[in-house]
Amino acid sequence: MTIQNVNNNAEPTSPERLPRGQHSELRRPEGRNLSRRKFLATGCMALSGAGVGLMAQGLSGKEDPKPTEMPDIDPGYVGPQFFDKREQDALLEVLESGSPFRFWGPGEPVKVLRFEQDFAKYMGTRFALGVTSGTAALDCAVAGLGIGPGDEVIVPAYTWWSDYTCVIHAGALPVFADIDRTFNLDPADFQRKITARTKAVIAVHLLGGPCDMDPIMETARKRGLAVLEDCAQCVGGSYRGKKLGSIGDVGIYSFQINKMITSGEGGALVSNDPVIYERAARFHNMGTIHQLFLDRVGTSRVQTFAGENFRMSEFTGAVLGAQLTKLDSMLAHLRQNAEAIYSGIEMLAGIRLRQRPDPDGDIGYGVYFETKDKASRDRCIRELRKRKVPASTLTGSVLLPTEESVINKRARHRDWPSFNSPQGKEIKYGPDNCRGTLEIFDRFVQVRIGAKYTQRINDYIIDAIRQVYDLLT
Ligand SMILES: Cc1ncc(COP(=O)(O)O)c(C=O)c1O
Repeated sequence: MTIQNVNNNAEPTSPERLPRGQHSELRRPEGRNLSRRKFLATGCMALSGAGVGLMAQGLSGKEDPKPTEMPDIDPGYVGPQFFDKREQDALLEVLESGSPFRFWGPGEPVKVLRFEQDFAKYMGTRFALGVTSGTAALDCAVAGLGIGPGDEVIVPAYTWWSDYTCVIHAGALPVFADIDRTFNLDPADFQRKITARTKAVIAVHLLGGPCDMDPIMETARKRGLAVLEDCAQCVGGSYRGKKLGSIGDVGIYSFQINKMITSGEGGALVSNDPVIYERAARFHNMGTIHQLFLDRVGTSRVQTFAGENFRMSEFTGAVLGAQLTKLDSMLAHLRQNAEAIYSGIEMLAGIRLRQRPDPDGDIGYGVYFETKDKASRDRCIRELRKRKVPASTLTGSVLLPTEESVINKRARHRDWPSFNSPQGKEIKYGPDNCRGTLEIFDRFVQVRIGAKYTQRINDYIIDAIRQVYDLLT
């Protein structure tokens, strides 16, 4: 059953219906330190009163969950769940105008132009640039920062390939730092990895949650390092009131289908810095500059250099323009569901949740809790899946230092500058580069959140997590 069916056959989930962070049936009955037995008794009575139907038996309980009592739980893809006439009309306008190219055509191509204006406004930055993917946006950002051979860039050990490849493409050297219980860059390990050659750090906001940006920015500013924020997995998220991407020197986003707003493929870059922006805009258009970008930055400060073609099409701009108008509503739905589940489990004595430096800035992609060890994690995932809960290990990224091609420092040519500098020859990648990261990865469970989950589904997930609670403590 699709997520639309789920939504149709139960109470609609409207962000207005529940105040954020409050669960209808399960307000915290007492303090955070409620004894486990007492809590289970109170909480489960409340749940069965809500008609969820599952008894919290713990893993020692004899009965398996009854399939008929399970709601269909499919988090689906957020962006497409919100496709409607707005995207259709915008696409038709491009077709009818005969102008699918952003710079010229028989009509007046304005979709990418307007999307860039609206996106910059939404993110609170001076400039935005639409490109073909998040990977392309990272390449533009690295070009924008002027990173090249001899430079080192600090990258989290757990993130998507593109944060590593963008450094290699520039001929620079990636240096891995561990993540912490935020699943994002550990500010202390970042500090430890800085050398005289470090030029920048990539702060990746993974799995819908912001990095702890204050200590990262403080270290970067003290040491004269550029900060590239990768917000691909956290589009619309924020940290202490600032939109992610607007805090560092340059921010990037992806609009691939797994991301918040989507056009199938697509990406964007934001910055307040006219030189970074001009360099990025040039890089995305073979090194040349179109007048519209010069109008934005006022005057050219950069000479032509060799670039790529990462231009966004008008079709992509049309869909993204429509999706952007719905981003706040998508965020409200996801956050409401994630907070309902967090508040349904956070008072379980001894439970260890993902560390969230700013829960208000979390986009609600998932709910995360820690188990005792890898074996408990795997068993917990199996038990939750038996109950049809979308549970898994952390997803969507790679433990980069453990990958064969990384360990063997393979670039597109054996003389590639990244690994031919003295430090490039010396550096060793492998599991020893990321012990802290592996420990975190091995213990955490992810439960995906859907924008269209109903209260019944949230309650069901809370109840299922309670049933596997023995594995968590
Ligand atoms: C953290 C992160 N950065 C960058 C990217 C690259 O985005 P794209 O797939 O649009 O190239 C992704 C994609 O999954 C990602 O998760």
